Amino acid sequence: MEEQLTGNVLVAQSGGPTAVINSSLAGIITEALNHDCIEEIYGALNGVEGILNEEFVDLAEESQQTVRGLRYTPAAALGTCRYKLKSEEDYARVIEVFKAHNIRFFFYIGGNDSQDTANKIADHAAAQGYEMRVIGVAKTIDNDLPVTDHCPGYGSVVKYLCTTIRELALDHEAMGNHDLVSIVEVMGRNAGHIALNTGVACGATAILVPEIEFNIEDVIKKIKTARENGKEQFIVIVAEGVGHTEEIAKKIYEETGIESRATILGHVQRGGSPTVRDRVVASEMGYYAVELLEKGIGNRVVGMKDGKIYDVDIQEALSMKKPFDKRLYDIANEISF
Ligand code: F6P
Repeated sequence: MEEQLTGNVLVAQSGGPTAVINSSLAGIITEALNHDCIEEIYGALNGVEGILNEEFVDLAEESQQTVRGLRYTPAAALGTCRYKLKSEEDYARVIEVFKAHNIRFFFYIGGNDSQDTANKIADHAAAQGYEMRVIGVAKTIDNDLPVTDHCPGYGSVVKYLCTTIRELALDHEAMGNHDLVSIVEVMGRNAGHIALNTGVACGATAILVPEIEFNIEDVIKKIKTARENGKEQFIVIVAEGVGHTEEIAKKIYEETGIESRATILGHVQRGGSPTVRDRVVASEMGYYAVELLEKGIGNRVVGMKDGKIYDVDIQEALSMKKPFDKRLYDIANEISF
């Protein structure tokens, strides 16, 4: 445990927004107001870009009603960015701005890239002898952060997809005898967690993920066999990391003769209404992140393990690997027919 610091908080959001990223922000603001070591609570607009440009808002000045509202508001209230700090000048500027505003506690809510940025900021501050605590708060719909079993935002996307794909299926069913293959591309960047879980939940005939090599002929065979057994509507889920969704649809049509339509779902996936679990976990992570400061703990990432919120050293978190759930993938293959 390190010595307690006194100073100001800066919080920022980074990467793609989610349905619950603001719940973590609300958790941080609410809990930060309770600590004597914290004087001011600032929010940087649009992630690290707001730090470089010194664009801060005073979050302690926001009304209780606004902060309460954040707990239920999707998207990123502070704005977000994809910008990565590139040069030594960038990092020097960040530390200069931190010093100018006496920022001693920095919370970065984001995914893998954001945790990497948080780690580098902590290193640069230490190298300059500037004492501060940096805490990363896990967030991404992709659920590919090794530090956390469940990433807030992810479940909400899968919920949205299940509802949407069910509605798509209803449209198909309404067409009577009209056979159709729906090839649906879902987000997830280079990870197939969203695709796998959505596919299982929707009863997809095939699920294509970047983690597992697939043969399109096997997918076609599955569809043909299911067709012979009387099935008329088919869902094929394609993770965006696999891509080529239009080509896959064309190939399926050519080989099966069944009308095949590609649907590529984009940003609509991220802004929907959240699951209870996502909202609760996101709120708790924000709260927990500030509690660490009370204990004088810094340079950690807050995640979830075995159903409990916990924290890990940022560098250790960055070196972890998240396994793909091969068992669930195998089960999906067994139960889809
Ligand atoms: O990381 C979240 C995510 O939604 C990914 O699933 C997707 O690949 C990416 O962001 C899309 O990013 P952008 O909105 O910047 O195109």
